[in-house]
Amino acid sequence: MNNDIEKVLFSEEDLDRMISRIAAQVDKDYSGSDKKLVLLCILKGSVVFMGELMKKVNVPCEIDFMKVSSYGNETTSSGNVNIILDISRKDLDACDILIVEDIIDSGRTLSYLSKYLLNKGARSVRTCTMLDKPSRRVVDFSADYVGAEIEDLFVVGYGLDYAERYRDLPYIGVLKSEVYA
Ligand code: IMP
Ligand code: MG
Repeated sequence: MNNDIEKVLFSEEDLDRMISRIAAQVDKDYSGSDKKLVLLCILKGSVVFMGELMKKVNVPCEIDFMKVSSYGNETTSSGNVNIILDISRKDLDACDILIVEDIIDSGRTLSYLSKYLLNKGARSVRTCTMLDKPSRRVVDFSADYVGAEIEDLFVVGYGLDYAERYRDLPYIGVLKSEVYA
């Protein structure tokens, strides 16, 4: 285990099971219609979750990417959502977007993005998050698919960073507090 990690919250096996369960739900909900499922990865934190999820989803899907920022190098949200890379598709009105996010904290990012994509003309928008910290909510928001709820802890790994580090860990762990003290 990495020396900066206090404890592992979700092992690679835990995450594999969690993502299989979400993929099965997605398959059920998006199967057999005229739907055009687009998995929309929110960079950078969702990249590992997205990669695993898209391998497990069996219904036909396309993928796309957006990059937003609401955090700097801190462990608290800035409150603003900035779009750094936008989705650029001409066929949004034919797309059933499933936003793939790493973690929900204040709820601002997904609340903002859901409205943004609907305003931009997407046929439908749902949200999927690997982790959720419901106790941290500032805006009223709940995702359609949730891997697991966690307490108010700062976690890293499996795409999640602290100051751009630890994204490459194959598990999700709690960072030792001395690392950001
Ligand atoms: P929200 O807009 O406040 O819901 O923030 C969601 C974003 O905050 C996520 O996409 C992450 O980038 C970041 N974030 C929130 N909690 C954590 C955490 O525990 N570890 C790493 N990043 C986090
Ligand atoms: Mg982040």
